[in-house]
Amino acid sequence: MTVLVRKPAELRQACDDARALGHRVGLVPTMGALHEGHFSLIEEAKARAGFIVATIFVNPLQFAAGEDLERYPRMLESDLDGCQARGVDLVFAPERDAMYPPGFQTSVVVSRLSRPLEGEFRPTHFEGVTTVVAKLFNLVGPSVAVFGRKDYQQWKVLSTMVRDLHMPVEVVGCPIVRETDGLALSSRNRYLSIAERERALAIVAALREAHDAWERGERRGERLRALATERVERDVDRIDYVAAIDPESLLPAPESPTPSRLLIAVAAHLGGTRLIDNVVLGEDPRP
Ligand code: PAJ
Repeated sequence: MTVLVRKPAELRQACDDARALGHRVGLVPTMGALHEGHFSLIEEAKARAGFIVATIFVNPLQFAAGEDLERYPRMLESDLDGCQARGVDLVFAPERDAMYPPGFQTSVVVSRLSRPLEGEFRPTHFEGVTTVVAKLFNLVGPSVAVFGRKDYQQWKVLSTMVRDLHMPVEVVGCPIVRETDGLALSSRNRYLSIAERERALAIVAALREAHDAWERGERRGERLRALATERVERDVDRIDYVAAIDPESLLPAPESPTPSRLLIAVAAHLGGTRLIDNVVLGEDPRP
């Protein structure tokens, strides 16, 4: 049975109780509209913990004015069914005011890693993410928290937050789940028209071209970035960034010594929809 909990204090109590019974707590934070990408995180959490918590909260703090906060899909009923079917023990779905009561004014900032890529185009985004996830970690307590590498920078930023603030949480990053044609699953894919969905495949096509070039021995970041850019720009409406950078520092990788891994990260717009995707060359399989 999946229990639905709305109040922060109830979440804390349930996690304390689970630990008192000897269970490890596994946490999967989400904004809902759950898909197989989210469910893969739940499976990973189940492999690592005995009491599984999923959180569903469309966090207003991480959306800027003009972004899709209002139209972000909300479907708690079917999300609960999905959690039930996957053996989630508890879903925490707070009201906005329970997370941000009047007078709320505290935030958590991971300064350097939040700056490039997403941070450049969504300057307040990661402050919203780190603040809400810090709150969730404080409520849940000692646990293993599972995130997707679809949001690669988010995973790195949150791992850094946990390390820097000594939070009692193990952060795990899971592989990107894709449709059979390669498109990365995303709650935002439902915004796409059929024609936009088709053009969105340029993003994974670009990652594949970079991966193929890497396999042929290309190690120059600039060259890999150019290859990927040429492929994406043919079909998308606007590119925010195509980056070829060091997967740990998220800074340009020096050309010597030759990098052993390189992150290719893309953010692009199809009509009114913004999509992100990435691959770590030298580590991930061909997407
Ligand atoms: P959301 O976009 O709902 O994503 C929740 C988790 O699912 C994130 O860790 C994300 O990386 C992962 N995920 C999404 N699509 C995936 C895919 N195709 N394959 C693997 N994992 C995937 O990310 C957020 O919510 C929020 O920023 C949150 C962390 C909940 C804070 O509000």
